[in-house]
Amino acid sequence: MSKKAIGFMDSGVGGLTVAKLAMQELQNENIAYLGDEARLPYGEKTKEEIQQYSLQIANFLIKKEDIKMLVIACNTATSYALDYLRERISIPVIGVVNPGSIAAVNNTRTNRVGLIATNGTVKSGAYEKAIKKINNNVDVFSQGCPRFVPMVEKQEYKKDNTQEIVNSDLSTINTDNVDTLILGCTHFPIMRELIQKSVGDSVILIDPGYETVKQIKKILQNNDIENKENDEVTYSFYTTGDANNFDKVANEWLNYDVHAKHLPIKELEEL
Ligand code: DGL
Repeated sequence: MSKKAIGFMDSGVGGLTVAKLAMQELQNENIAYLGDEARLPYGEKTKEEIQQYSLQIANFLIKKEDIKMLVIACNTATSYALDYLRERISIPVIGVVNPGSIAAVNNTRTNRVGLIATNGTVKSGAYEKAIKKINNNVDVFSQGCPRFVPMVEKQEYKKDNTQEIVNSDLSTINTDNVDTLILGCTHFPIMRELIQKSVGDSVILIDPGYETVKQIKKILQNNDIENKENDEVTYSFYTTGDANNFDKVANEWLNYDVHAKHLPIKELEEL
């Protein structure tokens, strides 16, 4: 049993979609969240940069927040840095790609699964690898949607012309005849309604966060590090970007009074 916090990391506010589900399902657990907004988008960075940034964040959360496990609540960082982090830090680390793949394979009836993600995640082939390992008969049709991340970060997805942008960016996926579509970037569940409208109600949208939280629960149990005390929980938030902007998106998404601390990149670089 451990009262230590679970660490969550993302390039920005996207990982809050996973953290929110964890807050609902793991109500005794303390959470420490870091969004690396100053270096976003990870989807356009090199593998080496993503590995370096991810390790800095992991080290920060371990040193400053004494976290008991790390959730890479970012598909791009999972695709490039999950194994890298597991080799370098001693606490349990989980990503979102394997859980998302399990959920997609469980839901498809036609074995035609779509993936929308950052260009980095698409290029890595991480989902294809994970899905083929589970069921070699499932085909994956991928589309990079880099415009969606800034639309969520700046809350621009609320503007009038957004549906047209979404329709245009999903036009290829919409001709691939998939029956299941993975929201393969943690920012995308915030735009879920627009995406569902574009692909139509017959396509099942997969938010990897749900399966990830189930797996977090299992890891806590298997390592005997759940918090069994029903005390008031603490949620702490850090951003390397603008704390006011982070708070605005986070307050709305989590329905919680978030006061993120600004973390200068310099402090991460020194770790
Ligand atoms: N939220 C991140 C993901 O799941 C990516 C956003 C970015 O490109 O920084 O991949």
